[in-house]
Amino acid sequence: MIEVADLWFTYPEGTIALRGVSLRIGDGESIAIMGENGAGKTTLVKHFNGLLKPQKGTVLIDGVDTREVSVAKLAKKVGLVFQNPDHQLFSSTVEEEVMFALKNLGFTSEEIKERTNWVLKFLDLEKYRERSPLSLSGGERKRVALASVLCVKPKILVLDEPTIGQDAKQKRKLGELLKKYQEEGNTVIVVTHDVEFASKYFKRIVVMAKGKVIADGPPNKVLTNPTILNESSLTPPQVAILSYEIAKKINNFPKDIVLFNDLLQEVITRVKR
Ligand SMILES: Nc1ncnc2c1ncn2[C@@H]1O[C@H](COP(=O)(O)OP(=O)(O)OP(=O)(O)O)[C@@H](O)[C@H]1O
Ligand SMILES: [Mg+2]
Repeated sequence: MIEVADLWFTYPEGTIALRGVSLRIGDGESIAIMGENGAGKTTLVKHFNGLLKPQKGTVLIDGVDTREVSVAKLAKKVGLVFQNPDHQLFSSTVEEEVMFALKNLGFTSEEIKERTNWVLKFLDLEKYRERSPLSLSGGERKRVALASVLCVKPKILVLDEPTIGQDAKQKRKLGELLKKYQEEGNTVIVVTHDVEFASKYFKRIVVMAKGKVIADGPPNKVLTNPTILNESSLTPPQVAILSYEIAKKINNFPKDIVLFNDLLQEVITRVKR
């Protein structure tokens, strides 16, 4: 469980990035944090694994104040995949990158081997095992960064902009992987600008603007609310636009559908009547 209470954070040169954020994230939830550039999303999630410590307010992970535990200790519980993979990758091969993370956290050599094999297979990275992460494409490097965090199997997995640079197939695979990981009982939190990805794979949307949380709820409530969308520079999912336009013309048609299959079902049911 993550409990954020009245969290404030100012960067040394004076930018106030967080202005009193309060948020509770229960075990096993799936959450997408959204909002315009500079809203404070990355600053917020860097508090979850203790990389940043609250200047005012508190962040508790399973009841423990992040100011009172080391980043290394938190890393077994909270895994954060950075927005830019190049801030995370430094080993000479993909395999070493993953093994390094595991060695660092004190896993046995048997576990290291097992987890490395598992994660490279899981993320379609086996063929790059011996390659230098720096020689890979941007999208592949992002998957290596994810591998080096996922191999730990953290109870709370946080990904900052994971879909950027991923093609449609990899994005779908990532969405399904995260859904499965969450269904196994873990908490999955993504920061994303991708409204389609967020509404398809996440049950709760938290919207931030100017260092504050301005909305929090299920995708069909948050991503169809014009005031929220306006305040956070988000464009609604295509399906929501279509549902809204149909609802203007057809009596009792729901105007807050965000998923393609739900919209299709609604249309089919009406056509059949
Ligand atoms: N290392 C830093 N030093 C100084 N200011 C920073 C630093 N990192 C972020 N900021 C500032 O803090 C504010 C919040 O930044 P943050 O990176 O948390 O936003 P974000 O919501 O993740 O944005 P984006 O969608 O562009 O990734 C911005 O005004 C940004 O300029
Ligand atoms: Mg960011």
